[in-house]
Amino acid sequence: MTSTAQPPASGARAAHPDHLGHVIFITAAAAMGGFLFGYDSSVINGAVEGIRGKYDVGSATLAQVIAIALIGCAIGAATAGRIADRIGRIRVMQIAAALFTISAVGSALPFALWDLAFWRVLGGIAIGMASVIGPAYIAEVAPPAYRGRLGSFQQAAIVIGIAVSQLVNWGILNLADGDQRGELLGIEAWQVMLGVMVVPAVLYGLLSFAIPESPRFLISVGKVDKAKAILADVEGKHIDLDLRVNEIELAMRSEHKSTFKDLLGSRFGFLPIVWVGIGLSVFQQLVGINVAFYYSATLWQSVGINPSDSFFYSFTTSIINIVGTVIAMIFVDRIGRRPLALIGSAGMALALAFEAWAFSADLIDGKLPHAQGVVALIAAHVFVLFFALSWGVVVWVFLGEMFPNRLRAAALGVAASAQWIANWAITASFPSLSEWNLSGTYMIYTFFAVLSIPFVLKFVKETKGKALEEMG
Ligand code: GLC
Repeated sequence: MTSTAQPPASGARAAHPDHLGHVIFITAAAAMGGFLFGYDSSVINGAVEGIRGKYDVGSATLAQVIAIALIGCAIGAATAGRIADRIGRIRVMQIAAALFTISAVGSALPFALWDLAFWRVLGGIAIGMASVIGPAYIAEVAPPAYRGRLGSFQQAAIVIGIAVSQLVNWGILNLADGDQRGELLGIEAWQVMLGVMVVPAVLYGLLSFAIPESPRFLISVGKVDKAKAILADVEGKHIDLDLRVNEIELAMRSEHKSTFKDLLGSRFGFLPIVWVGIGLSVFQQLVGINVAFYYSATLWQSVGINPSDSFFYSFTTSIINIVGTVIAMIFVDRIGRRPLALIGSAGMALALAFEAWAFSADLIDGKLPHAQGVVALIAAHVFVLFFALSWGVVVWVFLGEMFPNRLRAAALGVAASAQWIANWAITASFPSLSEWNLSGTYMIYTFFAVLSIPFVLKFVKETKGKALEEMG
């Protein structure tokens, strides 16, 4: 596939610190969707036991109720791009914010288990939409020189969302005397946990009214003057605006709204670039990252940590996750996306291999021997660190920027839905896999971390510093 565009001559690549403050505000507001993504997908962990007690259900049913939200995520991710091409990026953020709000209220006040599952699916759709619209919008408004760093706001917001949900759950649990079914504000503690999400959801909705529509979307619907004003604001007044608009129009020359059909190639179903996006997404999940977040309590207990202390260790992994993400934000525009991904794969593979080794020991009273327990604990943190400074950030940045303009919305949707399906496959299979053999489970994740190295070397192209019009 070749790009239809000439490399930008308009100075789009130059840095524009005078506008950076505003660009950062716009990016942070759009990344609120990422915060809700992290918050909503992890808040349920703290509420599980309360739900189990309230509805008197077994683990299998409970796991389904939890995992079903991920199917909603896949639906939201698959549809957001098309909707964004029709009615604009900002409108999609507003729809997602509304769905997040309704889902938070509904999940907090369900009248039956199926009703709760319904609200969780609705929230899942919002998460899926936010997972697509955040990276796409940020890549479209960010000046190329800062695009990686600004794109990584999405992942930073996701990991902060995960950490904040753990903290809020912990606070609510303490107020309810450690009982997820304890009464608080006239309802049970777990209901409060799910309901608190209304606050960031409403904030996301309000912020979306304070940020401009993507110039690329405006140009695609003929609102060129409005697009110019926004380009001048985010890329700097000294760039040649007419030339810039021409570049974008040229890149969209053969453009029509991207549809699923545009993604199809002649030989392998999808176009090769779409497969690369799907591969990045799927590998990000197959290394088992969300097992570390969704099932952390189970892991800590097999290492020998008391259930009451497991919150602390789950929170330390979250902090490591934030630290790693900040490191990646610093380096993503300096050393590039590809080297970071490769370093991450190697580090994750090593850490996962150590976990596989540690869990191969015979359990004593259901726990690992001391030495293996320590190795497992350290390896789990090292694994999260390497993930955070590489694939966590890099995949969302890549997905936002790697596709040509005419495919972006639809291709990002397909790649992100593949990611949610892979996330679902890993999280839904973990309970049975770990019952079969925890060490073997970690060997599977190790295998995928190793396999991601040749995948990146062979198929993934660096996107650092290029204008979006040059992708193709
Ligand atoms: C990435 C993944 C997400 C995971 C998070 C953990 O955003 O896409 O599934 O929960 O990283 O930091």
